[in-house]
Amino acid sequence: MRILSGIQPSGPLHIGNYLGAIQQYITLQDENDAYYFVADYHALTSVRDAATLRKYVFDVLVDLLALGLDPEKAVLFVQSDVPETVELSWLLTSVTPMGWLEKCVSYKDKVQQGLPAEHGLFAYPVLQAADILLYDADLVPVGQDQKQHLEITRDVAERFNHVYGGKKGVFRLPKPYILDNVAVIPGLDGRKMSKSYNNTIEIFEEPGAIRKKVKKFVTDSTPVEAPKDPDACPLFGLFKLFAKAEDRDEVERRYREGGIGYGEVKTRLGEAIVERFAEARERRAEWVAHPERVAEVRAAGAQKARATARKVLDRARAASGLG
Ligand code: TYM
Repeated sequence: MRILSGIQPSGPLHIGNYLGAIQQYITLQDENDAYYFVADYHALTSVRDAATLRKYVFDVLVDLLALGLDPEKAVLFVQSDVPETVELSWLLTSVTPMGWLEKCVSYKDKVQQGLPAEHGLFAYPVLQAADILLYDADLVPVGQDQKQHLEITRDVAERFNHVYGGKKGVFRLPKPYILDNVAVIPGLDGRKMSKSYNNTIEIFEEPGAIRKKVKKFVTDSTPVEAPKDPDACPLFGLFKLFAKAEDRDEVERRYREGGIGYGEVKTRLGEAIVERFAEARERRAEWVAHPERVAEVRAAGAQKARATARKVLDRARAASGLG
């Protein structure tokens, strides 16, 4: 199957990105034909300094490589290295009703958070549809927050197929790949972990900073002795994703019986996170020390991605009467 997904380079990656998406990228790269990219065109909606954007793009490439994305197995590339994306985006924009974009929650959210109501932000889902359709993707591993974008992608693809596709259709219809237990990773305040809520734990923060941040996890004031419902506790929700099975079972039992304090869970969670990323942290330092290797991976990925993209774009151009 063809797998495709992207991440915005809008700052350091957090453990919501890792559990909700990157872990699935890595599992899926073994048995499939996988394409993963750094969505720098999308980041233009929020990052407005050239040097910062370049740094973030490099950082995301390095993070993905360190976390186990293998350029021998998957195509790793930067979105803007494939300018065909923007051309397809225009073809799609031309058949996308305004109403579909007006109902998008992420646009409304971001404007509410104070981002200016710019056209790029409004048209963001069409660019995302172009990313996905350009590679004939079957499956798109993402967190729950991207589900609506995947629905729009399918709607736009169907509409284009209907307008221009004839019997065979031009685009393949992709499906989201969202795993229930990691669909929405909670942040330090219990809401979805997200940079815009300022509640993130970054994957490659210093171990000391990770331990300190986890201590800030918001919990209720149930006393240590009192029984607690683990399923209603975002702190436990995160703990169980990082802990070994026996630690998870022990903590869960002590929640239900009473006798465990949140302080202990926080300390153990901090340790578990630091430990989970210890090897990746070392691999990351290696990549950072060799930017020329990162550049090689990027160039090779761009070449492969462009070859695939060109064929699909030519199909769409021919169908719509361009060229
Ligand atoms: P982005 O960069 O915000 O997030 C990257 C991936 O991380 C997932 N994610 C989460 N999953 C679970 N819990 C969380 N708290 C959490 N926070 C983030 C996101 O769902 C996503 O899978 N628009 C996309 C980037 C994009 C894209 C694409 C994705 C551009 N083109 C094409 C797929 C296909 C975005 O902003 O993700």
